Amino acid sequence: MTQEELFKKLVAHSKEYGFIFPSSEIYDGLSAVYDYGQLGVELKNNIKRYWWDSMVKLHMNIVGIDAAIFMHPKTWEASGHVSAFNDPLIDNRDSKKRYRADVLIEDWLAKQDEKIQKEVDKARKRFGESFDEAQYRSTSPRVLEIAAKRDAIHKRMADAMNANDLNELRQIILDCEIVCPISGTKNWTEVRQFNLMFETKLGSVAEGANTIYLRPETAQGIFVNFLNVQKTGRMKIPFGIAQIGKAFRNEIVARQFIFRMREFEQMEMQFFVKPGEEMKWWNKWKQTRMSWHRALGFGDDQYHFHDHEKLAHYANAATDIEYNFPFGFKEVEGIHSRTDFDLGNHQKFSGKKIQYFDPESGESYVPYVVETSIGVDRMVLQVLSAAFHEEKMENGEERVVMHFPSALAPIKVAILPLVKKDGLPELARTIIDDLKFDYTLQYDEKDSIGKRYRRQDAIGTPFCVTVDHQSLEDKTVTIRHRDTMAQERVPIADLHRLIEEEVSMRKLFAKIEL
Ligand code: GAP
Repeated sequence: MTQEELFKKLVAHSKEYGFIFPSSEIYDGLSAVYDYGQLGVELKNNIKRYWWDSMVKLHMNIVGIDAAIFMHPKTWEASGHVSAFNDPLIDNRDSKKRYRADVLIEDWLAKQDEKIQKEVDKARKRFGESFDEAQYRSTSPRVLEIAAKRDAIHKRMADAMNANDLNELRQIILDCEIVCPISGTKNWTEVRQFNLMFETKLGSVAEGANTIYLRPETAQGIFVNFLNVQKTGRMKIPFGIAQIGKAFRNEIVARQFIFRMREFEQMEMQFFVKPGEEMKWWNKWKQTRMSWHRALGFGDDQYHFHDHEKLAHYANAATDIEYNFPFGFKEVEGIHSRTDFDLGNHQKFSGKKIQYFDPESGESYVPYVVETSIGVDRMVLQVLSAAFHEEKMENGEERVVMHFPSALAPIKVAILPLVKKDGLPELARTIIDDLKFDYTLQYDEKDSIGKRYRRQDAIGTPFCVTVDHQSLEDKTVTIRHRDTMAQERVPIADLHRLIEEEVSMRKLFAKIEL
């Protein structure tokens, strides 16, 4: 199965089992907007709790807030989003389709990598066992030629993006002979800047409506509350403020399911530090955040850092944590050193002094900021991609199983009476009444036990508890483990402890480098 096929299956599976639906599907959906179903919302809530507790509970110097989505319009002037939060767009005159110029070039670059890979695969077939891939890549004239062209274009694009040189971006598209995927022509318009913020009106028109924006990042809600939190919480630098909330961007290239959406959720933490100490903290947060991802057990080699070539308007250092999605390594989280750009500008635009008085040194300063910013939806996609498996069982049958880390699984335990009579459903209910205060449960009495196991595997439930006739006599049940499919007979009285050992987030937290 190719990675593309795997991804298609994952999208279909997410819908079939109630994880994620296209938004307003009865009206044929809305592009790049999705709804979370009954299992998706549980998974998402667990991911949010994993992040929130790792920030706010595990760090005594980090507190949380929940700021409004609507903010004073001056916020976005001060933050630079009104002037600089743009994508370079280009239209094809024949198809009337609009594209991001940088994405067209990036796709072209990816095609060069595919061409190189094809050359390598052909050579491997030709040379058989004696094939040395590294040597071939460094000596084949054809491979070297494609790589040189690719690197040259890559450099031109990076330079053009850094210099905001829109003519040069267009020229690269022409030089590479990039055609519109729909019309197949090179009939391109000029490249223009397009602001990604959604606008709306505050107040009735009669009152004189004010244009405001739907926030494109949650971070600004933290910056404008810096003094409120610092003073009321008596926070001492270094300290952090964490927030989870919705953000909105009018993405032109919206694709790859929930990877790039127009309405999405972010989990952001702004860490306020003394000027000059920001690099130390940036490096520290890189390690902490990477260990948070790796604690999930999807494989250390599935992640890497990718330093930014084009720094955002507010940053003096930035890196992404990329995860190996079915469509390649892509950004899940950004760790940015934002200097005093935001607080400094809010001070300027609001006319209010935003400074920290350091009681030890007796000096006042505008703090520097190191930010960790992760998309909840990308995290959901990471977990879904890593968990999805099709497996052959010993009896030759196939099962689809979601190997979620147990702490994140939407349903923790399924309670299954072997038959719908003889008092078994009643005993199952008493078990539910005990466990429901701590865990999300499902009750299922329909079909054979085998079919019920398959249904729970497909939604990633770590435990199935079967209640049978013996249970009535000796108050024991069978507990079946999702990953190993092993079954054991245990006293009902031990269930809570056994489940807790497996599904508690403590094990994950213990692996994080704080
Ligand atoms: N406050 C900094 C900031 O917003 P960003 O790199 O633009 O930085 C941070 O976004 C994270 O938000 C990304 O790493 C990604 O996980 C998520 N994100 C950004 N745009 C997104 C979109 N259109 N759809 C889903 N997630 C998105």
